Amino acid sequence: MPRFVKVAEKKDLIEGYGKVVTVEGRSIALFRVKDEYFALANVCLHRGGPLGEGVVNGAVVTCPWHGWKFDVRTGSFTVIPTLKVPSYKVKEEDDSVMIEIPSGDKIASSLSG
Ligand code: FES
Repeated sequence: MPRFVKVAEKKDLIEGYGKVVTVEGRSIALFRVKDEYFALANVCLHRGGPLGEGVVNGAVVTCPWHGWKFDVRTGSFTVIPTLKVPSYKVKEEDDSVMIEIPSGDKIASSLSG
């Protein structure tokens, strides 16, 4: 079953900056755009750069390594929008930001497969 886990307090997420958290071994980049919150895998599609450490302009984060840009709302690469960084469903509960951990462990299945 998918389940939601708390990853941050709303006050910890500031527009214009990403925040990197580790949840159950996954590195996740959190972003705030106005009063909405988004979560992407903290792994750039190019060479795996840490997207959560990139500069954020509006809803676009620029990878700190070589400058690829992604829409934080969808994970889409701005040049080829069908290429997407995996994203997580986000829900707000009181002052907390939660993300959905999908059922099935992708890390384990990629190791065994
Ligand atoms: S690793 Fe992100 S642009 Fe190269």
